[in-house]
Amino acid sequence: MPTNKQILLDNRPTGEAQASNFKLASGTTPPLKDGEVLVKHHFLSLDPYMRGRMNDAKSYTAPQPVGQVMQGGTVGEVVESRSPKFQPGDKVVGMGGWQEYSVVSADQPGSIRKVDTTHVPLSHYLGAVGMPGVTAWYGLVKIIEPQAGQTVVVSAASGAVGSALGALAKARGCRAVGIAGGPDKCRYVTEELGFDACVDYKQHKDAGSLSKALKEACPDGIDGYFENVGGMVMDAVMLRMNAHGRIALCGMIAGYDGQPIPMAYPQLLLTNRIKLQGFIVSEHMEVWPQALQELGQLVGSGKLRPRESVAQGLESAPEAFLGMLKGKNFGKQVVKVA
Ligand SMILES: NC(=O)c1ccc[n+]([C@@H]2O[C@H](COP(=O)([O-])OP(=O)(O)OC[C@H]3O[C@@H](n4cnc5c(N)ncnc54)[C@H](OP(=O)(O)O)[C@@H]3O)[C@@H](O)[C@H]2O)c1
Repeated sequence: MPTNKQILLDNRPTGEAQASNFKLASGTTPPLKDGEVLVKHHFLSLDPYMRGRMNDAKSYTAPQPVGQVMQGGTVGEVVESRSPKFQPGDKVVGMGGWQEYSVVSADQPGSIRKVDTTHVPLSHYLGAVGMPGVTAWYGLVKIIEPQAGQTVVVSAASGAVGSALGALAKARGCRAVGIAGGPDKCRYVTEELGFDACVDYKQHKDAGSLSKALKEACPDGIDGYFENVGGMVMDAVMLRMNAHGRIALCGMIAGYDGQPIPMAYPQLLLTNRIKLQGFIVSEHMEVWPQALQELGQLVGSGKLRPRESVAQGLESAPEAFLGMLKGKNFGKQVVKVA
């Protein structure tokens, strides 16, 4: 069986996560039992939710155990199979974690899925045509429920989730407006992703100033907001929400290292009769097939052109992960393992 390099969670962060919270280890994969397959990972996914799981705190799921391989999404190739469902060479998506190989029980529902790379590159199954894409789909379709002609805003618009949101909103006849950090990301959001406008939040030092810029970008106000960030960005959007607006509360990355993220204007939820709903995409598996079909068509037809930041080699995963939490990624952050 092959040698298998792995990244473990070595200790839990206090405050900002550090490279020293992780440890490189090496072992060999165990021999396959009946019903198991050996997957060689080509790419692993780095996602903001992993920061939350590094804490030993009450959340929607159990914390990442210390001393074990960092959990996470992977795409790769079956290299050995003792299951009739998979053949060597099959391209698969699964939850193999931060390591070069994983042994997977093919009979466990949802553990591993074959994917077709004819029109969609393998790594996109970790991004636009994977969990982040479905996240955008769920928040938009099931919570924001936009009507054609309405204005939908998303923060972290150039990222894995935000970039998919734009294409999905445009497909429903909406005005799509992004919020992103820096001129390069904003240019990508409008010129390549097809958003109608993008506001660079880094040009504004407070919610009032950002809100004025949003007024120009959203002359008819904001009907739907897909929240990825929290803090000042959320406050600025709240000031522009229309009556009966909907907010899909997907993430609050501005507070993932433990920073306080107070909400400045909660009274606007009442006066504007806003629906605000948090959600976790893995609790809505029933929408995944429908969402993945639409997302696959958008990518295959070129209407959604996702970008990726590709870190090279398993050892680069901790630094790439910490960089993503600070916005150093441009699009979906993945690690090329093989
Ligand atoms: N609820 C769910 O089921 C679910 C599922 C998947 C993802 N999520 C959430 O969705 C959000 C986006 O995830 P993703 O995978 O698509 O990540 P991403 O957007 O590809 O990367 C994270 C981005 O967040 C932005 N950011 C970081 N710190 C920020 C701050 N202090 N203020 C404003 N922006 C900041 C950065 O973009 P800029 O350079 O533009 O600032 C960075 O590139 C995260 O909050 C994540 O936790 C939730």
